[in-house]
Amino acid sequence: MDLAKIKKDFPILSKKDALIYLDSAATSLTPEPVLEAMDAYYRTYRANIHRGLYKEAERASNEYEEARVVVARFIGAQADEIIFTAGATGSSNMLMYALEHTDMFQEGDEVVTTIMEHSAVLIPLQAFAKRKKLNIRYIELGENFQLDYEQAEQVITSKTKLVALTLASNVLGTINDVTRVARRAHEVGALVIVDATAAVGHMPVDVTLLGADFLFFSGHKMCGPTGVGVLYGKKSELAKLTPSFLGGGIIEDVTRTDFVLGLKPWSFEAGTPNIAGVIGLKTTVEYLEKIGVEKIQTHCREILAYAQQELQKIEGSTLYSAEPAYNVGIVSFTLDTVHPHDMAEILGKNGVAVRAGHHCAVPLHTELNVPATTRASIYLYTTEEDIDALVSSIKKAKEIFNI
Ligand SMILES: Cc1ncc(COP(=O)(O)O)c(C=O)c1O
Repeated sequence: MDLAKIKKDFPILSKKDALIYLDSAATSLTPEPVLEAMDAYYRTYRANIHRGLYKEAERASNEYEEARVVVARFIGAQADEIIFTAGATGSSNMLMYALEHTDMFQEGDEVVTTIMEHSAVLIPLQAFAKRKKLNIRYIELGENFQLDYEQAEQVITSKTKLVALTLASNVLGTINDVTRVARRAHEVGALVIVDATAAVGHMPVDVTLLGADFLFFSGHKMCGPTGVGVLYGKKSELAKLTPSFLGGGIIEDVTRTDFVLGLKPWSFEAGTPNIAGVIGLKTTVEYLEKIGVEKIQTHCREILAYAQQELQKIEGSTLYSAEPAYNVGIVSFTLDTVHPHDMAEILGKNGVAVRAGHHCAVPLHTELNVPATTRASIYLYTTEEDIDALVSSIKKAKEIFNI
């Protein structure tokens, strides 16, 4: 990977007061081709999709539908299994509402999730379980910041109707063995929902290999635009759902009293979508494919190994980060009694962008017995020099706190 060339693709990294950017797990940076693709839409062919009969409208519709093909290919799916949404949170809520309106769940059934889920999964799942009177059970943490797979086998039983789990933790970086959990879930006839938000664009993702019935992610965690995401639904499972958001663009026929919905997946995209965002997402996938996702993964592992090694050397540091071999490039840490927010503030003043807090994973932090952590996250443009800047900034913070 030509790192110098890649860095040049990201205009924000070339500005005079550019940050040392180690906050890609919050949101990643946008490369020039993606900016150009969105700019071109707004400047030269802005039109609504699937409506107009003039050339700009046709081009916008074509680009939008081409994005469905490109995104599907990227995750090993079919184009008609891809729904564009506002992001992972939008996908998760849409899915939970749609599942709630099926007859698949009865009072007392169980849903299984993991202790390392993001609120985007956990909160809609809890609300759904409350409304349907379902019991939530957890796959717990095992050794080395991995899931306890033996306990997972036990907790998924004939009562389990749904298993929702993250492919990669946004705190620990851990890449979970979704294939293994999905195999067990399918043995008992449970649906498998995968949160791939921290994984897509960071490692190869194939919905069939994973055994995902549904899978979702956000564009902005993979160098794409904000406000756009994807919900993948296996054709046979998507067929069982009806859309909860209704409106224009999804209707086959309407009378005074009733309506007939159009085809899936389009019927899940009522109203005018984020057209520029979807077009930007298509270019993002093409950009990542050109570099090679495997190469990006290898690079992130190398930088992560260096970061873990250097952070471990700092006296008083505790790392909450899975081994590089199964980590998407995230290292969360604490330093003695320094509050992570104070740490992040000092790092920020030194021009190093990290995130501090519970990272929308409160039960995980409770389990780790820390209220908050500081998180450094690595992506394709991260260099060893960025890690050196982080480490020297932490050392300065140590002096300030006199520890
Ligand atoms: C693992 C994981 N899932 C879901 C989300 C939610 O993504 P969004 O805020 O883009 O909807 C995030 C965002 O931090 C995440 O890291």
